[in-house]
Amino acid sequence: MSELKSLVEEARQAFAQAATPVELEDAKAVFVGKSGRITALMKGLAGLSVDEKKAQGAAINEVKREVEALLQAARQALADAALAKQLAAEALDVTLPGRQRSSGGLHPVSLTLERIEGIFGSMGFEVADGPEIETDWFNFTALNTPEDHPARSMHDTFYVEGGQASAPNLLRTHTSPMQIRHAVQHVKRHRAALDAGEGMPEIRVIAPGRTYRVDSDATHSPMFHQCEGLWIGENVSFKDLKYVFTAFCKTFFEDDELVLRFRPSFFPFTEPSAEIDIQFSSGPLAGRWLEVAGSGQVHPNVVRNMGLDPERFIGFAFGMGPDRLTMLRYDIGDLRLFFDGDLRFLRQFA
Ligand code: PHE
Repeated sequence: MSELKSLVEEARQAFAQAATPVELEDAKAVFVGKSGRITALMKGLAGLSVDEKKAQGAAINEVKREVEALLQAARQALADAALAKQLAAEALDVTLPGRQRSSGGLHPVSLTLERIEGIFGSMGFEVADGPEIETDWFNFTALNTPEDHPARSMHDTFYVEGGQASAPNLLRTHTSPMQIRHAVQHVKRHRAALDAGEGMPEIRVIAPGRTYRVDSDATHSPMFHQCEGLWIGENVSFKDLKYVFTAFCKTFFEDDELVLRFRPSFFPFTEPSAEIDIQFSSGPLAGRWLEVAGSGQVHPNVVRNMGLDPERFIGFAFGMGPDRLTMLRYDIGDLRLFFDGDLRFLRQFA
């Protein structure tokens, strides 16, 4: 009988020591398996009297139940421990702040370029794009600015390898070369009709992009933006320039009372030429004349370089600074903010 008592205790210890389900099942086999100790005890009943069998058999059955209960409890304990371990490993701290992906936004100057394209697009202007590395011909000579012209000194820029030794390639100092590039393409497409004495669709284009000059302070940057405008036809006059540019400024600045002033000026590629100043009707800059563009009637030599007869074709051009337009629209005092990449500044426009 004492073996039966210690058997339960041994099973308890063996089950407690099993660290895995496999070890536990091995331990089980020692006690209740086919060749386990309890089975052996059962077999030993065979040689006993009927009364002894009854008493002994009942005691063995009782021990068997206890051992099986212990086994069940040990299985449960292992399963509970495994689940607890898994839960700990996969723990999720729902109080942690979420990982946000911040949304991007357009740079204020890009917003201005989009605005410019939208407004001129609504007036029938197409948008052209051209190279930032230019030849001397397109940047200067074709624009009636020959090599010794004093106006070149205002356009000091960065010269790059390539081109001719006497006239190296350069980073374009303005978007005006696009006047020639675009017009030449346009004229080429309509050459046959022109030669036959027929007309051609008017050239009406804007060309926004990056430009370069050796200049750097709060209102000048070595890289800056310009947007060229060109309208050439058989009957395009200064009053069309005035109408188009006034409509543009009123829409761009959302100021219907805004006024324009055309101040006589000089550019080699326009004649007559004018600087365009605007005056806001309200806001912090109201009452001041602010220069926003250069403009003029396209010079006959330039019209000729476009491949057109200046006796027949006439028009105007203008060049404005999107950086400056952006500064005026948002009342920004320092141009360098645009190129610092400081998110505290840029986020205000997103
Ligand atoms: N290209 C001139 C500049 O950069 C501006 C301009 C463009 C003037 C077109 C007249 C006509 O200053």
